[in-house]
Amino acid sequence: MKVIRSSREMYELSARWKKTAQVISLVPTMGCLHEGHLSLIRHAREVSDKIIVSLFVNPIQFGQNEDFDSYPDQFERDSGLIEAEGSDALFYPPPEEMYTENFQTSVKVKTLSQGMCGIDRPDHFGGVATVVTKLFNITSPDIAVFGKKDFQQLIIIKRLVKDLSYNIEIIGAPIVREKDGLAMSSRNVYLDSAGRKCALCLYQAIQASKKISHSRDELSAEQIIEETKKIVTQAGGQLEYAVVVNEFTLVPDNFVNNNSVLALAVKIGDSVRLIDNSKLRS
Ligand code: PAF
Repeated sequence: MKVIRSSREMYELSARWKKTAQVISLVPTMGCLHEGHLSLIRHAREVSDKIIVSLFVNPIQFGQNEDFDSYPDQFERDSGLIEAEGSDALFYPPPEEMYTENFQTSVKVKTLSQGMCGIDRPDHFGGVATVVTKLFNITSPDIAVFGKKDFQQLIIIKRLVKDLSYNIEIIGAPIVREKDGLAMSSRNVYLDSAGRKCALCLYQAIQASKKISHSRDELSAEQIIEETKKIVTQAGGQLEYAVVVNEFTLVPDNFVNNNSVLALAVKIGDSVRLIDNSKLRS
């Protein structure tokens, strides 16, 4: 596997692969990899000839009081895992390669970035959209694979691809969970044992909500949100938001239907913030 640090070298490699009509997939990551990321690489392997994994902890998607400075750096471990999954290239740019001095352009996907995680993280999705646009330009993939755990991010990237006329297919790969249901996340490493127990409330709220959704024909979103609040609060978590929204548009549903997704963000203890989501009737 080639480890590439410069954009120029990355363009050139991708262009060489394109000349022989090879299908290229990109799997963007910020490192600190877990089984969820590895599943994205496996998805990419199934649909492409060449895989590029990017590893870049993107400073502009972190808010001021967030964990950019403490975000785990595990390059040796991560690159070993990426290579073992059969990636052909690892794009690992230094920050100055991505954000040159006096960088001043940003990509914003307006309305979709405002609700849900965008309420407490107002600049987050602008940072994601900007770096993903750059990664698309540098790697020129035919396909890009993102995890469904970052549900709002996935919908925003799909919109960005349409709006900016990229010829890239976006694949959303299923959430990978621990045995007890906790969605895999790089931030799970911050949980102590009490926090780990409490963190299960996200999955418990999802399971309870799915059960009610299947058992009743007419069910208001409000009932699901109340149930979620109750489960999270009883477990000792702080509910940041719980919404029932359309799986394609993120528009809130008043009543649960076949396209409704429950998405939630919960603060565990003082500093760990976890998200999860699921379709309610599936
Ligand atoms: O999902 C992530 O890990 C990041 O938001 C991404 C897509 C790699 C952009 O930095």
